[in-house]
Amino acid sequence: MQIPTTLLAQVDSSVGGKTAIDTPEGKNLIGLIHQPKLVLADLDVLATLDDRQMRAGYAEIVKAALIGDAAFFDWCEQNAAAILHGKPVALQHAIATAISFKARIVEQDETEQGVRALLNLGHTFAHALEAHSAYDGTLLHGEAVAAGIALAFQLSAQLGHCTDAEAARVKTHLERAGFITNLRKLPGAPYDAEKLTALMAADKKNEAGLLTLILARGIGKAFMDRNAPVDRVLALLQQETR
Ligand SMILES: NC(=O)c1ccc[n+]([C@@H]2O[C@H](COP(=O)([O-])OP(=O)(O)OC[C@H]3O[C@@H](n4cnc5c(N)ncnc54)[C@H](O)[C@@H]3O)[C@@H](O)[C@H]2O)c1
Ligand SMILES: [Zn+2]
Repeated sequence: MQIPTTLLAQVDSSVGGKTAIDTPEGKNLIGLIHQPKLVLADLDVLATLDDRQMRAGYAEIVKAALIGDAAFFDWCEQNAAAILHGKPVALQHAIATAISFKARIVEQDETEQGVRALLNLGHTFAHALEAHSAYDGTLLHGEAVAAGIALAFQLSAQLGHCTDAEAARVKTHLERAGFITNLRKLPGAPYDAEKLTALMAADKKNEAGLLTLILARGIGKAFMDRNAPVDRVLALLQQETR
């Protein structure tokens, strides 16, 4: 039985049964999938959660919208402040929407053979940022995810999968919600582009040495690219960290 007490755990980690630990080699590399019998997400407990932790949880909410629900992203743009301030109506809608979105995906693909991988939007970048800063609390997972989502959309635009305007809209929303998307200013900076790229190449989602990334054809249109060009990833990270 899981009783998630952070916004992040309520909307994401308590659903789907993934349990893992972080090691110096990378994020979540050791773990298993084991479903709880019951998840009890009580909104009242969030009253004591600090602003930074609330925002970190919001990253996974907006992630769900960006993966597959453009209308929910429109709603997030209008309601981010209410969610972050813990306004019950907005918070409940956001949590319920994010949970049902994730539950639908996990029901289709519990062991991540396919569609479940889309839930990793922004996460290959994020896991590298987290490993770079050694999971010492400098950079929260949700903060890394927000920066990673901005990078994933930026790369998608550079590779011609989505428009620059869509990538800019995502970045603007994340910044309005209070996230830092500028890697030079992100907690844990300075980040080294070569080291980040090497960490990304070690991510567990990679098969046969190829860089697998979740990219987007637009807002709400994430897809898996099993052969993302490592040189373009490195170039983007160099551009963003220099
Ligand atoms: N398994 C999954 O599917 C999955 C999905 C998303 C994230 N994660 C992982 O979850 C981890 C982050 O977990 P988290 O965000 O729940 O953070 P956490 O468990 O580290 O908690 C964050 C902080 O908030 C405090 N706290 C918790 N509940 C509180 C409350 N109600 N009031 C006041 N303080 C409270 C905790 O003591 C802690 O200091 C990351 O390692 C991330 O990778 C896993
Ligand atoms: Zn996450």
